[in-house]
Amino acid sequence: MMFLRDAWYVVASAEELTRGPLGRTVLGEPLVIFRVPGGTVGAMSDACPHRLARLSRGCVTNAGIRCAYHSFEFALDGRCVSAPGAKKIPPLSTVRTYPVEERFGWVWLWMGDPARQDPELIPRSIAPFAAGGWTHARGYTHVQGNYELLADNLLDGSHADSVHPGTLGSHFVKEYQIALSTEGRDLIVEHLSRDNAPTGLFEFLMRATEPVDQWVRSRWTPPSTLVLDVGSTLSGQPRSRGVHVININCLTPETATSTHYFWSVARDFANEDAAMTEQIRTMTSQAFDQDRVLIESQQQLLGTRDLRDFRLASTPNDTAPNRARMMLKRLVEQEAAR
Ligand code: FES
Ligand SMILES: [Fe+2]
Repeated sequence: MMFLRDAWYVVASAEELTRGPLGRTVLGEPLVIFRVPGGTVGAMSDACPHRLARLSRGCVTNAGIRCAYHSFEFALDGRCVSAPGAKKIPPLSTVRTYPVEERFGWVWLWMGDPARQDPELIPRSIAPFAAGGWTHARGYTHVQGNYELLADNLLDGSHADSVHPGTLGSHFVKEYQIALSTEGRDLIVEHLSRDNAPTGLFEFLMRATEPVDQWVRSRWTPPSTLVLDVGSTLSGQPRSRGVHVININCLTPETATSTHYFWSVARDFANEDAAMTEQIRTMTSQAFDQDRVLIESQQQLLGTRDLRDFRLASTPNDTAPNRARMMLKRLVEQEAAR
């Protein structure tokens, strides 16, 4: 299974936790995620060790969570603190917990050995856009497809003309140049095109229809965070005179064949324009739905197989996704060999 376990994955938005315990499967494991009144977020296996009722059907208490079935109560560290009907807390009543960090309005879980948890491994690529001066349009898309198919999609903008005409497509793709580099464990991909029609998104943002130079600078941080700097400037003008948005993508495997896709589009202009935020959110979510349909069609044919198991036709545009797949495979193998 291609999961890197020693890594942080986004499992919820902070906002989702205002509605009580959240049951969510991550890397194939059913988890319950909740916030206690003191503010701390807890994450544990969603299986009550008494009779296996799902804890996410229970309710949050001051100390942790109470099972809905026979009211066993569990503290944030997973220990049972109350077991009605028993004289003392029975053995085998501890629930497995997961380290939690809250960053950028999202809840991140460490899915590997808790002894190896390292907050430094939360992708640094997001931090600059979490600061003041950036307005975010956030969303969540559930995809019936493996998370690496989503990474392929985000690392290869060449599908935009076909899949997103009118919003992200122009004639950008036919003429663009690609440059790949690495920085630590990150893969960086630059797409450039000169003197082309602006995409629908940039027509809207720049309020201009003249030809533009366009760029997409993508940073992939394993296992599955992608930060894309997408911008346009009038042909021949420096980038600083143009407009860009930062598209942040966190792909969390639900199972081997489905994904929790958390995304945000950040901008550093028209920050107070709530209507623009809504418009960007709608446009982005529609674009991702267009991708989703195709990714789900790939997954239907793949079943439980991996794209790597096939000999497929390829173009230079596939270099970046293939490279990321290779890098991730190596990390997973290294982890397994430890
Ligand atoms: S199943 Fe949870 S308390 Fe009985
Ligand atoms: Fe797309």
